[in-house]
Amino acid sequence: MFFHNKKLQYTVHVDAPNPAFAKMCLEQFGGPNGELAAAMRYFTQAWAESDLPRRDMLLDIATEELSHLEMISQIIGGLLKGTKTAMIDELEGGYLGDFLEGKGGDYEKAAWDSGTVLLAGGGGARLTDSMGAPWTAAYIDTIGHPLADLRSDIAAEARAKALYDRLLKLCPDAGAKDALTFLMTREVAHQKMFESALAAIPNNFPSSNYPPDERFTHAYFNESTDGQASDKGYDMVSAQGLWEFQKSEAKAGGNEPDLPDPKPSVASSMIQQRIDEALRQTSRVSQGEIDGSKPAVGVKAK
Ligand SMILES: [Fe+2]
Repeated sequence: MFFHNKKLQYTVHVDAPNPAFAKMCLEQFGGPNGELAAAMRYFTQAWAESDLPRRDMLLDIATEELSHLEMISQIIGGLLKGTKTAMIDELEGGYLGDFLEGKGGDYEKAAWDSGTVLLAGGGGARLTDSMGAPWTAAYIDTIGHPLADLRSDIAAEARAKALYDRLLKLCPDAGAKDALTFLMTREVAHQKMFESALAAIPNNFPSSNYPPDERFTHAYFNESTDGQASDKGYDMVSAQGLWEFQKSEAKAGGNEPDLPDPKPSVASSMIQQRIDEALRQTSRVSQGEIDGSKPAVGVKAK
């Protein structure tokens, strides 16, 4: 059950309209690493989770992500302030004529810069990424296994953080920057919560459902043996001391693959018969002409 609290989680104040930056912020609204994707990811995981502490945490974070979606929509709305009245009136009044004649001026540039948020969205955030691609459930990679899902959740938070970092670098607006900094910080907090939830599971690596084949768990196959950097990867992972890797040269240790029977399959010979039959009916070519046992009409027999 959800209640709507009229206040935002953190104050959003935008200093000046900026349709181009509003378009970039859509990436955090309806993009693959945006707030809606995060909320749906954690809600669906929570509803399928039987471990009560994990379920509780997932529901808390999912609900917070929805409040971040609300904040992002307010940032985008603020960045379009002024466009909703003056600019949209101007656009809807005559852009088809003026734009096509190249007389759109500043409005034309702002409309192109903002793309979907202004022309298609009428000044409000739409559920697309910054390029206009619609939000899709395919963004959620949940597989229903806590060890895999928690690791993916940590990665999702890291991606969202990277995205906020880029937006902050590009943000020209002090007010929007303050709200974006809060949102970026919460991604770090969520990342730590998921790390903690993973640590709370004993023997969390690797998954114990099927134990791996110990002959290969610590083998580092050196797939390139030439060039200056050929040992750098092995040196890096073994220097960490987490596991003892044994370096071995890459080799093909299996058998040769079974190649398919070169004889035509029953299905392919049936298809060929149908093609021959169709050819014969449409061109009145005889079976002998098709299979080569009889010369085609107009061709002299040797
Ligand atoms: Fe988050």
